[in-house]
Amino acid sequence: MSIKAVVFDAYGTLYDIQSVADITEEGFPGYGEIITQVWRIKQLEYTWLRSLMRRYQDFAAVTRDSLAYTLRMLGLAYDNEAFERVIEKYLHLDLYPEATSALAAVKPRKLAILSNGSPDMLNALVRNSGLDRLLDATISVDARKIFKPSPEAYELIGEVLGTGPEEVLFVSSNPWDVAGAKSFGLNVAWIERVTPEAMALACVETELVAPLTMFKAIRTQMDELGFAPDYLMRSLSDLPGIIKG
Ligand code: 2OP
Repeated sequence: MSIKAVVFDAYGTLYDIQSVADITEEGFPGYGEIITQVWRIKQLEYTWLRSLMRRYQDFAAVTRDSLAYTLRMLGLAYDNEAFERVIEKYLHLDLYPEATSALAAVKPRKLAILSNGSPDMLNALVRNSGLDRLLDATISVDARKIFKPSPEAYELIGEVLGTGPEEVLFVSSNPWDVAGAKSFGLNVAWIERVTPEAMALACVETELVAPLTMFKAIRTQMDELGFAPDYLMRSLSDLPGIIKG
C-alpha cells in the first residue's frame, strides 16, 4: 500500500483516557472509577449531541460540562480548585507506552493527529508528552466547528497534509471513529484493545458489572454501523508491520 501519511486519533488511541482514574479517585475517594467512566461516556455524547444540534462548543467546554454532569449526577460537592485539579489531567494524559516508538518507526511518512480536542488542549498534550518532536501536524476539528465522525472533520486531513484519502492510514481505537473514517473513505486501522473474549469473561466473572466493564462494553467493541476497518491491531506496536506489509 502506498501510504504517505499516518493520522492518529488522540484520546484513547495515543493517550490513555483511563489515566485520569488516579486523579478522580484522589479528588473524590470511592468514586474514581464511576467518575472516570461516566465522564468519558458523556464527553463523547455531548460532542455528538452538539454536532446534531448545530451548537458547537469546543472540546474543552464539552470536557468541563461532562465532568460537571458526572459530579452533579453523583451528588458530589466540590469547589473550583477540586474541579480544576481533575480537569488539568486532560493536558497531561499518559501516552500509551509503545506510542513514541511506534510513531518513530513509521517515519519518514507524514505523521499527524486528527482529534476532536480543541487546539489549546491538543497542543498542550502533544508538548507535554514530547510527541511534538515526531508529529508534522496536530489537526483539531475546531477549524470546522463540528466533531468527528462528521465527514467535514475528516476532510481536514487532506486540506492540511495535501493528501488524498487513499494515501492516508487513519489509526483509532474508538469504534465510532473507525466507522466515521471508513465511511469518509480513508484506509483505517483499528486498535482492538479489548477482545470480545475478554469482554465476555469480564461480564460473567462477577454478578455486578463494574463501571469500567460497562464502558468497555459500549465503547471498545466494533459498532454495527456497516463499516469494518481494513486492519486490526492489538496495540500501536503493530503499526510498523501494517505499513510495511
Ligand atoms: C479524539 O481524540 C475524542 O477520542 C476522540 O478525537
